Amino acid sequence: MTTKPPVRVTVTGAAGQIGYSLLFRIAAGDMLGKDQPVILQLLEITPALKALSGVVMELRDCAFPLLADVVTSDDPMVAFKDADYALLVGAMPRKAGMERGDLLGANGGIFKPQGEAINAVAKKDIKVVVVGNPANTNALIAQQNAPDIDPRQFTALVRLDHNRAVSQLAEKTGAAVKDIKNITIWGNHSSTQYPDLSQATVGGQPALDQVEREWYEGTYIPTVAKRGAAIIEARGASSAASAASAAIDHIRDWALGTPEGEWTSMAIPSDGSYGVPEGLIYGFPVRCQDGKYEIVQGLEVSDFSRGKMDATAQELQEERDEVRKLGLVK
Ligand code: NAD
Ligand code: LMR
Repeated sequence: MTTKPPVRVTVTGAAGQIGYSLLFRIAAGDMLGKDQPVILQLLEITPALKALSGVVMELRDCAFPLLADVVTSDDPMVAFKDADYALLVGAMPRKAGMERGDLLGANGGIFKPQGEAINAVAKKDIKVVVVGNPANTNALIAQQNAPDIDPRQFTALVRLDHNRAVSQLAEKTGAAVKDIKNITIWGNHSSTQYPDLSQATVGGQPALDQVEREWYEGTYIPTVAKRGAAIIEARGASSAASAASAAIDHIRDWALGTPEGEWTSMAIPSDGSYGVPEGLIYGFPVRCQDGKYEIVQGLEVSDFSRGKMDATAQELQEERDEVRKLGLVK
């Protein structure tokens, strides 16, 4: 039996489709370890509380040894109280044919009050990952409305893109997923993202020596970048289980560390590294240790990479300008 004290994990949009794939895995110990009890603090809008009560019944019916308690609320001040971790999932998903601008308007308003509530009641060292789209800019909104929390504690999910990039390369080369290392997703969780293979290895050998350049530029990059839309087209709904799995990977690596000698991709506030404008929540190669992340420095950036990295930064700047006009960030 474990003796660790429980930690508090807030999940917003907990009655939604990602929530349904996420909560059970957190409670099973997949995110914070098999020795870490958790208290789940679940936030939903009032009309979804009934559905959430059903999810909670199922959570309890699993009799997870690590699930110390479950709190549900439609009040962010309750759901974020003393939270150690927050997974901000609750937001409207993109539907076929929707414009990104529609989501900025519809979802931007959710993240200001949540940032304020985190500022007011969460632990000061809370780790936040934003999943709800547009994830990078929503993270910026939450961060800017939580002035008493270290801005670096606000991150966004590009791990799903990272995992997609690993899997696509494994499929192409016939390698096992575990033999693929050091892919980077630079920038925005959107179709401008740059899945970069320039440092990646397959079985210890440079990935770009093992695939044709034409495939990399013409097939691989767009396939990874547009995978979200392909899933919406095929399923009639946006990705859910894979998004939940990626969110678990993101927090697990941040909290427990990335494997020795490897990096992962996280969207984090830019400190100006690699010429990315400071403050944007931008996908970088990161290593994590002792609950902290740091950007992998010193990687060579080709002209091809520079163009892609700048284009996705440009899109994030435009998103920031738009939410500034809405009064959601400074
Ligand atoms: P969903 O519609 O099934 O669930 C969203 C839930 O959020 C609903 O239950 C809704 O009631 C709730 N909600 C809405 N406003 C809320 C608020 N203010 N506070 C708390 N809860 C609120 O959607 P989903 O499929 O679970 O997707 C959630 C979000 O995640 C969407 O924005 C989607 O686009 C995004 N997403 C991101 C990634 C990624 O990689 N970053 C991947 C997949 C989906
Ligand atoms: C995804 O990448 O699957 C999600 O962000 C859904 C979307 O809107 O693309």
